[in-house]
Amino acid sequence: MSSAANPLRDAQDRRLPRIAGPSGLVIFGVTGDLSRKKLMPAVYDLANRGLLPPGFSLVGFARRDWENEDFAQVVHDAVKEHARTPFREEVWQQLAEGMRFVPGVFDDDEAFETLRSTIEELDKSRGTGGNFAFYLSVPPKFFPTVVSQLKKHGLSDGGTDSWRRAVIEKPFGHDLKSAQELNAVVHEVFKPHEVFRIDHYLGKETVQNILAVRFANTMFEPLWNRSYVDHVQITMAEDIGIGGRAGYYDGIGSARDVIQNHLLQLLALTAMEEPTSFDAKALLTEKLKVLNSVRLPKDLGRHTVRGQYAAGWQGGEKVAGYLDEDGIDPKSKTDTYAAIKLEIDNRRWAGVPFYLRTGKRLGRRVTEIAVVFQRAPHSPFDATDTQELGQNAFVIRVQPDEGVTIRFGSKVPGTQMEIRDVTMDFAYGESFTESSPEAYERLILDVLLGDANLFPRHQEVERSWEILDPVEEYWDKHGKPEQYPAGTWGPQAADEMLARDGRSWRRP
Ligand code: BG6
Repeated sequence: MSSAANPLRDAQDRRLPRIAGPSGLVIFGVTGDLSRKKLMPAVYDLANRGLLPPGFSLVGFARRDWENEDFAQVVHDAVKEHARTPFREEVWQQLAEGMRFVPGVFDDDEAFETLRSTIEELDKSRGTGGNFAFYLSVPPKFFPTVVSQLKKHGLSDGGTDSWRRAVIEKPFGHDLKSAQELNAVVHEVFKPHEVFRIDHYLGKETVQNILAVRFANTMFEPLWNRSYVDHVQITMAEDIGIGGRAGYYDGIGSARDVIQNHLLQLLALTAMEEPTSFDAKALLTEKLKVLNSVRLPKDLGRHTVRGQYAAGWQGGEKVAGYLDEDGIDPKSKTDTYAAIKLEIDNRRWAGVPFYLRTGKRLGRRVTEIAVVFQRAPHSPFDATDTQELGQNAFVIRVQPDEGVTIRFGSKVPGTQMEIRDVTMDFAYGESFTESSPEAYERLILDVLLGDANLFPRHQEVERSWEILDPVEEYWDKHGKPEQYPAGTWGPQAADEMLARDGRSWRRP
């Protein structure tokens, strides 16, 4: 009996670890921070978990005068410093044997010829089977050159027996027009199903859990609509400043940096309808449908706020304001905080505002989605008994205390009928012994497996810019961001924005 005809066997197969077939990964921009802190450790962790094939190969491409051994040493140091799984010499040795370095700049034909012969050599010596993913961990201005070089040197097409894929890091443009141009450039060389755009939030365990919680249970979905939900708050707060990223961040700002991608993806997963299956096409259909229904309020001056951190105190230390950070234009109007109200024009969500906010140098690091419910339509209790009863809430804690909190009212023990908010918590650490892979581990494995579920398609990226562009244009024309002291919860205007709607931000 074939496995297709045996549902039990199918179910068992799906629980087996997903292991990549013969393949290799080429990283452009391999000397960058992302590569060192995330990509190299993720490759090692995958190998250590037994999820990569024995001949897996890693090729670095950059403008450095390195030999293969120098590159392997850099990877070694990055792994030692940032990998999540213990260092095992035998795993490292096997991986290191498949490491190659190609020195060169992106318009150097000779370097791309060397890359081609390196790949051919790896196919012979390591059995990579011609299957290679090209990871563009480089600023978008280099995308056109890199992809056209891949094409010119016959690297972008795997032929009939092998695959070639392009992995693209954000920022994917800085507005709709630039995103469309980038998409056009990439699609001239790679077919849509060969392009994997990274939004590392989609690789987070808790983000994938949004769909599990919503669609694998019966308890929540009946309430997940305008009849019961008052509003939704999506918060991505960071306590860090911009660190050494002035060159990237200044002129981009918080809304383009994370609302356009991570937060709108969280919104889409929270608000979308049930997909017909958990495959990339079905997910895209539903995510795109809901993103297409997202509408900005008319008066952007009342319903959006931007801020910029000033000097302040954080963790007992005095920290500099944004304008005093190294490499920042002292007159910069770049937002380090943004709050935006969005509406969703469909039957499920009509009239339910979604408030998105993000910021650097805020009170603490926390990302969460809070679905806040309406108050009970009628209360048989005296108003004094329910003074300390807030609104019910369902909170998906994305990070750092991964889990779910449900807030509801309960009687306070005693002879009187007093009702107060209590919480019920699910914490990953307490309920599961399994550890979750780091987002990049999961995403790199999915690229090698050709599984596109967790990668935004170009339509989503473009639609997200279309939502954000009017806000950026409005901000460009109107004033400048309000300063907020580092270590606080952002500008006062953000509190006023919600207060005008009779609501307030959560203090997670
Ligand atoms: C990145 C942003 O996409 O996400 C950074 O460019 C931000 O500015 C980072 O700090 C946050 O990621 P995480 O996984 O730490 O929440």
